[in-house]
Amino acid sequence: MTTAVFLAHTAAPSGAELATLRLLDALRATGRYRVTMIYTEDGPMVARMRARDIETLVVRGQFDSRAMRIGTGVLGLLTGFLALLRLGWNVGAAVKSAGADVVVAESTKALVLGAVAARRARVPLVWQVHDRVSPDYFGRIPAMAIRALARLACRGQLANSHATATTLPDLPTAIAYPGVELPVTQTDPRTRPAAEAVVVVVGRLSPWKGQDVFLHAVAALTVRPARVMLVGGTFFGEEPYRAQLEKLAAELGVPVEFTGHVDDPSEYLTTADILVHCSVLPEPFGQVVVEGMAAGCAVIAATPGGPAEIIDTGVHGLLVPGGDVGALTAALETLLDDPAARARLARAGRDRARDFDIHASARTVADFLDTMVTRGD
Ligand code: GLC
Repeated sequence: MTTAVFLAHTAAPSGAELATLRLLDALRATGRYRVTMIYTEDGPMVARMRARDIETLVVRGQFDSRAMRIGTGVLGLLTGFLALLRLGWNVGAAVKSAGADVVVAESTKALVLGAVAARRARVPLVWQVHDRVSPDYFGRIPAMAIRALARLACRGQLANSHATATTLPDLPTAIAYPGVELPVTQTDPRTRPAAEAVVVVVGRLSPWKGQDVFLHAVAALTVRPARVMLVGGTFFGEEPYRAQLEKLAAELGVPVEFTGHVDDPSEYLTTADILVHCSVLPEPFGQVVVEGMAAGCAVIAATPGGPAEIIDTGVHGLLVPGGDVGALTAALETLLDDPAARARLARAGRDRARDFDIHASARTVADFLDTMVTRGD
């Protein structure tokens, strides 16, 4: 049995961390891997991991992940970076005592931590990449620096989509789509008439997720759906964006229900007619697209990025260019006006979602980690 230690800098329940939770559970179920999770702060993910009986440690340092995010000045970045290195050293001790054969870093900050920790524990480092390492997301210089670090420190990388892989350095790479835990019971598509329909957007409220584009698109509809819901919280200083969205909804006269963060969005997904994904930057993968499809929603998702690898437009859902209000309005009109077409797409989407079973992803990850552990040791 091989031991893999996973590293994350945040224990907030955002997409990458939830993907890691599902992966660890399924990786362990392969019977080939023993897994340990290390966070460098306390947060909801610690209890959620432990609830699944996954060994979870919290190794704290002087490092405040929120003080160092995209947009921080050079000095802030540098101070944060040094604190990360120090913390990485302590993480290295924990990695060693966990008996790791390989360390997997789950974010860019975890990559810095992992570079130090893996060196201290003398095990290979693998980077599981959830973000596109591109100038539009990180800025030009940080994106270059991150790629350079990965090339230096990692033996290989796991990308959450081809879209993400194209932004990564030239290292051994496998594509491991974040899998979903497929529902045990199938839910039938919802076919309410336009004026009774329920439309949801599920995901963190963040400017790049484009919820404002969605509100503009809804405002332009000839027949408004009965319920419009934004399901998702703010974790990384995004509260002002929520306030902006509330103001915008009021100005546009669109009644929107804000649920805040929910641990399990399935009650919304299994009752909505339509799930909208509307990121304005290319989405690295877009787990919610698959989750919506698996729950029987008709899905509209934004291109370019991961969703285009999930959906054939007009077959499993509809793709629209991210940030294009007119195109999103038109796609919503199409699905709202024709419940039969909506149901057809939803049914095909539900079948397509089965290709993203977490157990298949876990096998891909296990096979790749096997090559990392044996290569050159
Ligand atoms: C990040 C990405 C998202 C992806 C998730 C899991 O949250 O932004 O697109 O689905 O990680 O890999």
